[in-house]
Amino acid sequence: MIATEKVLEGLTQPAWDVARVREEFPVLRQTVNNRPLVYLDNAASSQVPQVVIERGSRYLQEEHSNIHRGVHYLSQRATTAYEGAREKVRRFINARESRECLFVRGCTEGINLVMHGYGRKFVGAGDEIVVSAMEHHANIVPWQMLCEEKGARLRVIPMNDAGELLLDEYEALLNERTKLVAVMHVSNALGTINPIKEMTSRAHKQGIPLLVDGAQGAPHLPIDVQDLDCDFYVISGHKMFAPTGSGVVYGKAEWLERMNPFLGGGDMIRTVTFEKTTYAGLPNKFEAGTPAIASQIGLGAAIDFLNGIDREAAHAYEQELLAYATEKLSAIEGVRLIGTAREKTGVLAFVIDEIHPHDVGTILDQEGIAIRAGHHCAQPVMKRMNVPATARASFAFYNTKAEADALVNAVQKVIEVFS
Ligand code: ALA
Repeated sequence: MIATEKVLEGLTQPAWDVARVREEFPVLRQTVNNRPLVYLDNAASSQVPQVVIERGSRYLQEEHSNIHRGVHYLSQRATTAYEGAREKVRRFINARESRECLFVRGCTEGINLVMHGYGRKFVGAGDEIVVSAMEHHANIVPWQMLCEEKGARLRVIPMNDAGELLLDEYEALLNERTKLVAVMHVSNALGTINPIKEMTSRAHKQGIPLLVDGAQGAPHLPIDVQDLDCDFYVISGHKMFAPTGSGVVYGKAEWLERMNPFLGGGDMIRTVTFEKTTYAGLPNKFEAGTPAIASQIGLGAAIDFLNGIDREAAHAYEQELLAYATEKLSAIEGVRLIGTAREKTGVLAFVIDEIHPHDVGTILDQEGIAIRAGHHCAQPVMKRMNVPATARASFAFYNTKAEADALVNAVQKVIEVFS
């Protein structure tokens, strides 16, 4: 087993060494359809570095056991590794206490946890939940389910044609009936970075808590939940170089303590009788049953990986790549970009006149290029932008300008095929 720090020596150079960083991601070395894989579907799921793979397999080979329950050696090792990962998460997002960091399988489960734990307790008939026009279904559907159950109402912050939220209209939606604002940090369909700190401050002026869907934020931006002052921040590990099945709900302790548990079962209780159950303290109250131990330990290793690189240089590089690809792609006749906000991460969604995005995706796949085509679990965004679907390339810091060129050339080829 090579230590994370050792593997990462040389990555903290002032200029981003993309060739060096690519060596850490074994999946990128393969060919697809006899061409080098060009992986541009990072918003759906990012790739996993070798150190994370090794950490997960070390757990399986040497430490596998259940946590919190055993007095034996292996269980104690697994517990130490699992709780160690929680502390890594705490530092990564600058939470005050590690008990404010709950492990879940990803953002969808995390938002459902808050819906059940907070929403079902604190939202009643006539109350309102505010979401934005660009939300992923995971940050719409749970709140709709809650509204249906409680007789509450979903309000929607509108956005402009570039895909930027209208903040004055947002503020105008907030009132004494608003019980929660639930908004994404970064749009998976458009790439827009939302001004979360500003939005939280406006909500808090009226005493309203705010939840951030951080699925696309945590992989690309520094996250400081105390600075953002959000009440909840949810993360999916598989979008930030960790295995699937890992994820986090950060919640302010004062909320989590007052909330109901989400799932009932083992490890979340203090006492159980047939008459009454009392619950464990944080974070256990929200972690019923055996969790995804290997995946969460992997998330801890992914955080070590991210701490071992120069994240500012990585971000600057991603921005450069985005600008480069945007310029080249938008210069092609017939291509229209969907999502042109001033503040964006590396998401490049587009449509081509008369060609369905699924056809674009399929032809690009023949060239070894992985993009996503469809509605991106954001059907209201497609409706707002007047398109049935888009093709979407999404970049990570291991993508290259040559890959952006491959994308652009393949799009030109698609247009030729259909002309
Ligand atoms: N939400 C993920 C995406 O945008 C799956 O592709």
